[in-house]
Amino acid sequence: MVEQPSLSQADEKKKFVRDKFSSISGRYDLLNSLLSMQIDRYWRWKTTRLLREFPAGPVLDLCAGTLPLSLELTRQTKQRQVLSVDFCEDMLKAGQQALPQDDRKGRIFPVCGDGEEIPAPSDTFHGCTVAFGVRNLARTQQGLQEMHRVLKHSGKLLILEFSRPTNPVIKPLYAFYLNKVLPKVAGMVSGDKEAYEYLASSIAAFYEPEELLTMMRQAGFSHVERKPLSFGIVSIYIGVK
Ligand SMILES: C[S@@+](CC[C@H](N)C(=O)[O-])C[C@H]1O[C@@H](n2cnc3c(N)ncnc32)[C@H](O)[C@@H]1O
Repeated sequence: MVEQPSLSQADEKKKFVRDKFSSISGRYDLLNSLLSMQIDRYWRWKTTRLLREFPAGPVLDLCAGTLPLSLELTRQTKQRQVLSVDFCEDMLKAGQQALPQDDRKGRIFPVCGDGEEIPAPSDTFHGCTVAFGVRNLARTQQGLQEMHRVLKHSGKLLILEFSRPTNPVIKPLYAFYLNKVLPKVAGMVSGDKEAYEYLASSIAAFYEPEELLTMMRQAGFSHVERKPLSFGIVSIYIGVK
């Protein structure tokens, strides 16, 4: 069993994470596109495609932030309704202000809430997506249990998250970019260098893929698997309730 932080450590991390995202909320989308050279769009597209078997079912987009994945979910499937939960109100507000004036606006329902105590009844959603959010949870196992609780039987969990490339050529290049280039550029654009130093250190400190897959199984998921993308810079983790 992977060790989990105490409640007070968890509260401390939550406050730090909420404050950091609040401080960069107005620049988050710009920085995302800039720093990933728009590859993040492909990663979200690929993740969303994995929910094709539920073309109409409601989906929970957890740690939804400025709503980029909620938008992709409602773009790919015309009847899709998405509950978009995040505990940082400023991120949700920035996302809402930038929503395109089309029918998707009426199918995305942003709610401020904690992913470790999801504000939704059990057995509700056909799918649950979490893009770049699981790494930020203070109590990952508690969050995974909550995701399992709110999914319907046969519902699918899709976690899109940074992983660490193992390719000997890519690995040092990526480490240099993440630790040296990214905090500098992001610090200049967002005015908060610390937020992007946190990004690099949280990627370095995050669970190994096998550990996360084990935690998903412990939370009750079956058919658990990982699909690495872009040399393993990110991975999609899949589980079924
Ligand atoms: C890197 S952003 C990802 C936003 C979006 N999903 C995306 O694809 O860009 C991570 C988000 O997770 C949220 N978050 C972190 N811990 C959370 C928690 N315990 N409950 C709800 N949201 C949380 C943060 O507020 C932040 O908006």
